[in-house]
Amino acid sequence: MKNYITYAKTDDRVLPYEEPHRRIAYLAALEGIVLLENHDALPIPSGKIAMYGSGVEHTIKGGTGSGEVNERHSVSILEGMEAAGYEVTTKKWLDDYTEEYETGLKELEAKIKSSLKKLDIQSYLTMFLQSYLYPFGRLITEQDVTDSDTDTCIYVVARQSGEGSDRKLENQDFQLSDTEKTNIRFCTQHYKKTIVVLNIGSSFDTSFMEEIPGIDALVYFCQLGTAGGTAFADVISGKVTPSGKLTDTWVSSYSDVPYGMDYSYLNGDLENENYLEDIYVGYRYYDTFRITPRYPFGYGLSYTTFDIRYQGIEKSGDTISVRVIVKNTGDTYSGKEIVQLYASCPQGNLKKEYQRLVAFAKTDTLEPGQEEILTLTFPLSYLTSYNEASASTIIEKGTCLLRIGSHSRQTEVCAVLNITEDICASVHKHICPVQTPLEVLYPEAPGETDSETPDVTEAPEEKDHLDITQEDLPTVTFTYDELPVTGNQKLTEDLKKLTVKERIQLVVGAGLKDMLMNESYVKVPGAAGNTTSSLLKKGVVNLVLADGPAGLRIQRRSTIGRNGTAKMIDMQIDMMKYFPEIFKKLLCGNPEKDQVYYQYTTAFPVATAMAQTWNPDLLEQMGQAVGEEMLEYGVSFWLAPGMNIHRNPLCGRNFEYYSEDPLLSGKMASAVTRGVQKNQGCSVTLKHFCGNNQENNRNHVSSNMTERALREIYLRGFEIAVRESHPKGLMTSYNKINGTYANNSKDLLTHVLRQEWGFDGLVMTDWTATAKGQSDPAVCIASGNDLLMPGSSSDKKRIRKAIKEGTLTRRDLNRCAGRILAATQNACVSIDGEKGTYKSDF
Ligand code: BGC
Repeated sequence: MKNYITYAKTDDRVLPYEEPHRRIAYLAALEGIVLLENHDALPIPSGKIAMYGSGVEHTIKGGTGSGEVNERHSVSILEGMEAAGYEVTTKKWLDDYTEEYETGLKELEAKIKSSLKKLDIQSYLTMFLQSYLYPFGRLITEQDVTDSDTDTCIYVVARQSGEGSDRKLENQDFQLSDTEKTNIRFCTQHYKKTIVVLNIGSSFDTSFMEEIPGIDALVYFCQLGTAGGTAFADVISGKVTPSGKLTDTWVSSYSDVPYGMDYSYLNGDLENENYLEDIYVGYRYYDTFRITPRYPFGYGLSYTTFDIRYQGIEKSGDTISVRVIVKNTGDTYSGKEIVQLYASCPQGNLKKEYQRLVAFAKTDTLEPGQEEILTLTFPLSYLTSYNEASASTIIEKGTCLLRIGSHSRQTEVCAVLNITEDICASVHKHICPVQTPLEVLYPEAPGETDSETPDVTEAPEEKDHLDITQEDLPTVTFTYDELPVTGNQKLTEDLKKLTVKERIQLVVGAGLKDMLMNESYVKVPGAAGNTTSSLLKKGVVNLVLADGPAGLRIQRRSTIGRNGTAKMIDMQIDMMKYFPEIFKKLLCGNPEKDQVYYQYTTAFPVATAMAQTWNPDLLEQMGQAVGEEMLEYGVSFWLAPGMNIHRNPLCGRNFEYYSEDPLLSGKMASAVTRGVQKNQGCSVTLKHFCGNNQENNRNHVSSNMTERALREIYLRGFEIAVRESHPKGLMTSYNKINGTYANNSKDLLTHVLRQEWGFDGLVMTDWTATAKGQSDPAVCIASGNDLLMPGSSSDKKRIRKAIKEGTLTRRDLNRCAGRILAATQNACVSIDGEKGTYKSDF
């Protein structure tokens, strides 16, 4: 047998999948753009246009770190506009900007090089995960305006972020810089129309809309991947009507964010993050506590108008369906509308949020005057709340109002569910006990609303009423009996063929050395890691795992030495290009001398933008496309989708996640999972499970929260994805939950994930999460975290020791090893290099 196989290409020809996948990325980008303001400014006919700002030419396609994608090319906003026929007349300003941009990069490079001399490995990693802070450009002059010869200008504000650090609450980052403010103000004074565009992965302080009069439109472009510029131009020109909606609340001022000044680095305590807002996250907080957002959850404008009319409600088993007719009431533009259904649950002993999203649906493109019937469906379990006193999920007796509308602050009560008795949906065991009591937020006047929203207590007589009883939702009582070692006889037999040493090799990934030197059998240059190749002789293939979530992150160009060592040519993570020369010599191949291997994958919009489409079909198509690329190159596990909750706008990784809302997050992750896993042998890895809502000190911080918040907010999205789409992988997070590392939590990994939700896939750690001073690798195995990634010899040593000392049982080891063995038998590359076929060589 050859010592490795690779599916990387030996020339860089365009492959058949590239165009269709770009098309999906384009469609998602189109629907991911959210129009926040438009005062008769958009669309703009083609012609001359002035463009300023850091994101015009250097458009950010996605965030940094493991969330990057190494695509062939991404269309910038400038390119997109020019290709669509606009004449951009501010080239002088843009050229000056590029000069400043490049100077900034050189300065950063020098800074990194000099600090590298004294730093340790951990600080190295942190440094390479930093984001380059884009310069803001010079002041715009009267001459620029005269030369631009147009009355319309677009100003693109760009911000970058990524794993390892949170965004800063200052005007370089979360807010406009002084230069940007001055420039935008100048634009409003010198152009008839000024359009501001935000090329930022998650929400931004838009208080400048009040400070600077005369901004005619505000577009949230987000970060849109390979076809972002093309999609932008098509929305700006009116070729396509924007249809994206926000998946987060955008506050008027950061001071409105609950406990915002305690977040991450802001209160100086990076050890403990207390989730004092409890279940009141995002709109659940703003609605309940009557704080008017600048742009509400679910909000986004269109070039046309829609009418949403309620048609009726039905109950079938434990499922409620609401029917509506949506009509395009405009007379010029076609467009799509997103209809949202919220529930205001009865306020009983347990206080609740004012409303929660329970279902949504999006129309097809409707021509002016055209109508479409939509059905919005949800199970009654979406109405439950977790009662800590009885460890059960309940719906309290009373009136539940269903509200239908076009965003969270524009809804109308359409029907009433009469909950005729207290309903108990499920009985659990307690999990993740709080270590130090938390004084969490509790609404004094629950359900009171501000002037924009109807009163929660009102149950209009004339609306449709449906009675709901315990019979509609029979109680499920969970049991927590020890799980069998394997689910089937064959696997038990297969496992017996491996020694304890080999089982330990299986649960510990192939290691960092392997990541760099890549001594694996199935070779995918640039993959984040792989499981051991040392059991090939026993017929166990190594699994290849590669990142997401915005596409498949593998190496664009690399060389593979005769011994199978892969070397990158272009640095895999952008900031790595600042490695000192000596590192580069060691790590990088020589394209002049050696055979170059190519792997071009598709950069899709970041997760936030994907979710802003509110179009699960598109997410499923994206997943399907990613799966096809996995199969093309031999990647069995995609380290995505990311689905942590946007708890705070400053989280450095929000762009990799979908929303502040668990239902929306769960639905989006389910759709992506369905798409990926349609491809034989390709699996997703839901991440980061759970409570990983802060990046600073992510390896040590404890996310402290009540069991109710944990279950209702931070676990709910994962639960929906697991129950609906059967994901085959899941990654635990770096952080602790109430003092226990997530990957050391049997409560989370066995009791909730497997025993309550029925997850039967593979659980892996986040990378190096068991390094010194972090979680215990043996406890990972005992808790149900099957695989330690990327794996190290010290992991193996500590597992061996725990077995010897009796603190880890062989049964627990076997259970984890069995799950990995099962995954290798379902890998997308079999032991003899066949792709996409299930094949066990035992
Ligand atoms: C990230 C994960 C990623 C892993 C492998 C970690 O730093 O937190 O999301 O999948 O690296 O690249």
